[in-house]
This record gives sequence, structure tokens and C-alpha cells, in this order.
Amino acid sequence: MNVTTLASPPAVNPGAYRQVFGLLPTGVVAITGRTNDGKPTGLVVGTFQSLSLEPALVTFCVDKSSSTWPALRSLGRFTANILSTEQLTVCRALSRKGEDKFQGIDYEESTLGTPRILDSTAWIDCEVLSEVVAGDHYMIVGAVTAMDAGTGDALVFRGGKFGEYTQWPTPAPTETPKP
Ligand SMILES: Cc1cc2nc3c(=O)[nH]c(=O)nc-3n(C[C@H](O)[C@H](O)[C@H](O)COP(=O)(O)O)c2cc1C
Repeated sequence: MNVTTLASPPAVNPGAYRQVFGLLPTGVVAITGRTNDGKPTGLVVGTFQSLSLEPALVTFCVDKSSSTWPALRSLGRFTANILSTEQLTVCRALSRKGEDKFQGIDYEESTLGTPRILDSTAWIDCEVLSEVVAGDHYMIVGAVTAMDAGTGDALVFRGGKFGEYTQWPTPAPTETPKP
């Protein structure tokens, strides 16, 4: 069922929604493309996910108020750059609103013409396959055209704070949890 056809959407307190989802750690991914006049641009999302292997698809969500997404949508292509713990300044630059967000950010051009940010943990070039309106966001599906791992550990976001993933010590064989 389409969410817009619900007769009376359940009332959920926005504070509770934010608090609960603040408990869930996410990656930090810069979705990059070009403005209508060809300048590199992008925005940061915590909603980027793998979606399908055959064919290779990815997904993320964009607030309807985003001023960057309309340009990327009309380009029809983007690169998803998995930001590393060394790229907090890139994250800050691309998560603010305004012009010339790419100032000081080093990148190379993908075969799609989208900017791949240098020193990202990984990059994934995509074509926009579909876009669904979902409440106050758009849900985007991208078809992967190329991807590769880069360097560094992925940046993690949880409860409004940035951090890094720490692996537990390898458990002794008898402590291995059942799947
Ligand atoms: C860690 C983090 C995660 C974010 N996740 C999302 C997201 O999933 N979707 C979204 O629309 N905005 C998200 N934002 C906010 C956007 O990055 C930001 O509001 C947007 O880029 C503002 O600029 P724009 O109007 O040019 O898009 C996130 C910001 C940060 C710092």
C-alpha cells in the first residue's frame, strides 16, 4: 500500500522517532554529482544502503527540502562516496546548505562525469533507476555501474555524534555466537 493512501496515518511523536533512530548507527555517505551548470556538488546521507546484488542496486533517502537533489536528479547519475574517519571536513562541507560546497574538496571524475571524492573508504558510481515519494522524503534507487574500495575506515554516525567502528576481540571458539 502506498503511504499516501493511508486514511489516518498513525500519530508518532517526532521526538521519539528521532530518539529511537538516533540509537541506530549509520554510515556517512556523500552523494555527488553536478549542478545544471556543471559544477561539482553533493549532499551527505546516513540512509545509504545496499539493496540488490543481481542486479546491483543501492538506495538512499533525500529530504524533499534538499536544494542539491534536484540537480542530481536531472543529471540522472551520482557517485556514492563512503566517507572515512579522516573526512569529517568533507562531511561538514557537503551537509551544509549553500553554493560551491565542493570548495577545497579533491576529486577525480568518474566515467559517468560525477565527482569521486579522493581518499574515500569506497566509491560507487550509479545511474538513477527510480524515485518514490515516501512521506517527507524521496526514496532513490540507483543502479551500480562501477565501484571500488579506497582507503581508510568508514565514518559512523549515531545519536548526533560521529565515531568509528571498533571490532570486538575475536571470541574463543567456544564463545562463537550461533548465527
Ligand atoms: C550524518 C548525516 C546524515 C544525513 N543523512 C541525511 C539523509 O539520509 N537524507 C537527507 O536528505 N539528508 C541527510 N542529512 C542532511 C543533509 O546532508 C543536508 O541537510 C543537506 O545536504 C543540506 O543541503 P542541500 O539542501 O544542499 O541538500 C544528513 C546529514 C548528516 C550530517
